Amino acid sequence: MNLENDMAPVFLVTGAAGFIGSHSVEWLLRQGWAVVGVDNLRTGHLDNLADARSSPNFSLVIADAGDEAAIRPLFQEHHFTGVLHLAALVSVPESFREPDLNYRLNLAIADTLARLCLEFECKRLVFASSAAVYGTSAALPNRESAFPQPQSPYAAAKLAAEVMLLGYAASYGLEAVCLRYFNVYGPRQDPSSPYSGVLSIFTSRFQRSLPVTIYGDGEQTRDFISVRDVARCNGQALTCQEVVSGRYNVCTGQAVSLKQALAIYQELFPGAPPAEFAPSRIGDIQHSLGDPSSLQAMLQFSAQTSFAQGLRELALDNRCGGLDV
Ligand code: UD1
Repeated sequence: MNLENDMAPVFLVTGAAGFIGSHSVEWLLRQGWAVVGVDNLRTGHLDNLADARSSPNFSLVIADAGDEAAIRPLFQEHHFTGVLHLAALVSVPESFREPDLNYRLNLAIADTLARLCLEFECKRLVFASSAAVYGTSAALPNRESAFPQPQSPYAAAKLAAEVMLLGYAASYGLEAVCLRYFNVYGPRQDPSSPYSGVLSIFTSRFQRSLPVTIYGDGEQTRDFISVRDVARCNGQALTCQEVVSGRYNVCTGQAVSLKQALAIYQELFPGAPPAEFAPSRIGDIQHSLGDPSSLQAMLQFSAQTSFAQGLRELALDNRCGGLDV
């Protein structure tokens, strides 16, 4: 992709009003790029885009990213240089309850966008995939070469979308970058369901001086990555000159246990009630960890926010407060 020769590169971000989307839009705007955001506000919030919407380089279209009648004119008008496709059904439990919706949001929309990219000569599509594609039995740390074993409709659709996009890459030369996010956390993550990200729930409860519940012994570990780093990764994948189509872990390579997280919370919220312990959740995995080296090699990307720093920023953010989890 040669950005210098393009008159005025414009990027499309689907799911722009979501947790990761809004941070990614802000990163792109800070670099001086023009962005068109699309969101149907099903799980995204306009509030998340309060800063972005004050930029003259940003416009927002309230539409479903899979509504071709709404999206095609945007491709026609803007001749996008790249698409960051984040719009999704984000809840794994919901994908079990609503498999048809999961199919549409997590697979079919990627196909629609890829075909529009080909038709309108938009060279690059960056897709939000998930570490969930590895399943529970892959060797740790997860490497992209591992045989994927999805355990949910959500993970299966993400994997299918990867395969389809990489098929378009091989067949038509689309640059398809599939980013497998590990446990992303940070400001604006919705804590309102018991199955929301654990750090969004813990933060919301600590901020209201409520006890948190640890399912299991607290020794389970995750590869938590700050949304700031994820936004930068998305932006770099979308705008850098050279990419190699493929699947890439977006992770830190560091395992953090819930007990370690709790110790940091206790410093941030001295006087908080002690954590309560409950039996492990069915289907929970004990450890998840990614190998970040492929993305490092392609984009020279590595996570820069330490876990303690990222948790502090989340704890000081006041937007989690007041929600009833
Ligand atoms: C993530 C997904 C989950 C999916 C799984 C496998 C999210 C938010 N969760 O789960 O839907 O099935 O990957 O792909 O995307 N925990 C507590 N207390 C709480 C909440 C959670 O102890 O109040 C524990 C959980 O039991 C788990 C750990 O914290 O052991 C992390 O939970 P979570 O944030 O849901 O992430 P994953 O388990 O990785």
